[in-house]
Amino acid sequence: MSHDLFEAAKTAMAKAYAPYSKFPVGAALRTEDGRVFTGANVEVASYPEGWCAETTALGHYIMGGGGRIVEIAVIAERMAKCSPCGGCRQRLAEFCRPDTKLYLCDNTGVAETVTMGDMLPYGFRGDNLK
Ligand code: THU
Repeated sequence: MSHDLFEAAKTAMAKAYAPYSKFPVGAALRTEDGRVFTGANVEVASYPEGWCAETTALGHYIMGGGGRIVEIAVIAERMAKCSPCGGCRQRLAEFCRPDTKLYLCDNTGVAETVTMGDMLPYGFRGDNLK
C-alpha cells in the first residue's frame, strides 16, 4: 500500500529545483478515494522565498479537488527519514486527521511510519477560530 506512495515521492524528488541547498526533497499525498498528488521543493535566489516539497504537493492536491488525506510520504536524497518542517506540519495538518499516516523514507522505501498527531501535537486548528 505505501510502497507506491514512496515511489511517487521519489519520482517527485527527481524534479526538485534545489540549486542552493542541493537538498532535493519529494512528497506524495494520497486521498481517501485513492488520488495521489506529488511535489518537490522549489528554491529561489532570495532564499526565504523558496518552499518545501510538501507545500508543492498540497498545491496540487487543492487544485485536484482536495478531499481527506490519509497517507503522506516524504523522501530526501541526502537524509534518511527527513520529516516535514514546522510550517509544513501546520499546512499538512489543515487537511489531515491526527491518525493520518506519515511515511518517513530512505532511498529504498518507508523507514518509519508515524502519524500527523505525532508530528504536530497540540497544534493550532481552524476550530480555534470559531
Ligand atoms: N525541505 C523540504 O522540501 N521539505 C522538508 O520536509 C524539509 C526541507 C526543503 C526546503 C529547502 O529547499 C531544502 O529542503 C533545505 O532546507
